[in-house]
Amino acid sequence: MAISPGPSPGRKLAPGHLPSSLVIASLSRALDLAEGEPMGHALRACWLGMQVAKWLELLPQERQDLFYALLLKDVGCSANAYSVTHWFHADDRRTKARLKVADTSGQWRSLVFAIRQTAPAAPITRRMAQMVSVGSRGPGLANELIEVRSQQGAELVRQLGWEEPAAAAVENLDEHWDGGGRPRGLRGDEVPMLSRIALLAQTVEIFWSQGGGRAAEMILRQRRGRWFDPVLVDLMLAHARNGRLWRQLAEIGHPEHVSRLDPEPRDIGPQATDELVRVAEVFAAVVDAKSPWTTNHSTRVAAISRLMAETMRLSPEEQERVGLAGLLHDLGKLAVSNSILDKPGPLVAEEAEEMQRHPALTQQILSPLWTLDDVTEMAASHHERLDGSGYHRNLRGPEMPHGAHILAVADVYEALTAHRPYRRGMEGPEALRVLKREQGTRLAGEPITALEQILAGEPMAELAPSPT
Ligand SMILES: [Fe+2]
Ligand SMILES: [Fe+2]
Repeated sequence: MAISPGPSPGRKLAPGHLPSSLVIASLSRALDLAEGEPMGHALRACWLGMQVAKWLELLPQERQDLFYALLLKDVGCSANAYSVTHWFHADDRRTKARLKVADTSGQWRSLVFAIRQTAPAAPITRRMAQMVSVGSRGPGLANELIEVRSQQGAELVRQLGWEEPAAAAVENLDEHWDGGGRPRGLRGDEVPMLSRIALLAQTVEIFWSQGGGRAAEMILRQRRGRWFDPVLVDLMLAHARNGRLWRQLAEIGHPEHVSRLDPEPRDIGPQATDELVRVAEVFAAVVDAKSPWTTNHSTRVAAISRLMAETMRLSPEEQERVGLAGLLHDLGKLAVSNSILDKPGPLVAEEAEEMQRHPALTQQILSPLWTLDDVTEMAASHHERLDGSGYHRNLRGPEMPHGAHILAVADVYEALTAHRPYRRGMEGPEALRVLKREQGTRLAGEPITALEQILAGEPMAELAPSPT
């Protein structure tokens, strides 16, 4: 794949090391999935925004803040996924994708949006009832949904260690130049410059991916002075005049295409450094927060897996890698609609198929991280089973990475012991008995024995039923 030349090549890192820019660029594709956008949306929005930064001659620190704000603009996605599904009775990803481009300024437009998006597949009487319910909340509902998402997004950017301007850019992403945005209705220069660039880049990318350069230029003209800062619109239209901008944009699709645009990437690999673990913990929290039914799941799977790896006397480095895979194993679940994740009954075949895509997506999201190949393999294999009856590649026991056997047991144990809105979690010994029924047939014996040893010892918080 051809790699487009970037305007300002970032600092080169020694071979085998992992730049923060590549990690965040790769993980941004998980956020695309949660927002109902095609993988690569945030990468292209990032590239477009960084072109604007170059034309405006922003300083290196401003460019770095913008770079991470663009890649992490949707990191608060889980904060409202459940509410969007609950209120609109629709696929949260579809509703969110519409919300990004639909003009919902003013009460009338908000109402039209709500009518179109509410319970589209339901019978008319149920649709009407749900519309009344949405309507009774008024425009305050849209504000609430955006505010909770933008505040959570900004908070996670801070937790990841990026500067305050990057957090503020994420927090104010949905504010518009004319004051018609949300949640605060900021106007003109009150909207931080980095948010203005990010909104422009995000919207243009979506219209470009749906209708090419013509659609992108049309939306720039239509929303000039309404959504967008006129100066930025004029700049982009001037640079788009000969079509080269759109041709270059079409080449952006791989995290490496944009990772070099960070003026000063931090080295966060190849070992499981504190910073790499922190990034994995934040993304684990994003995955776990998507559904009230998976609260703390990834974090607990990681902790339980590490304990098991230690009991099995794996090296400290292997223990770290297993823990990292535990944090990242369900990244692909961000692509699963909450109408499936939160379903209180058995899934129909189509829904099960969508759910079972998640390990393959985890693999795809992590695949550019060359120093984490072993972690990626473990994470992608956590639903494989000894007898080949698992998914997504139907691997058999010897074909599975060693750590995947540990993850598989930890994953099932966590699910059995977690409290759910519809049932209490099992106690440890009961969950162990359930696991033993599959010992040697679907689940490996060694990790189950390790778990049994841990449960027989001192009570440990990691192994107790989840606190939720
Ligand atoms: Fe999973
Ligand atoms: Fe899981």
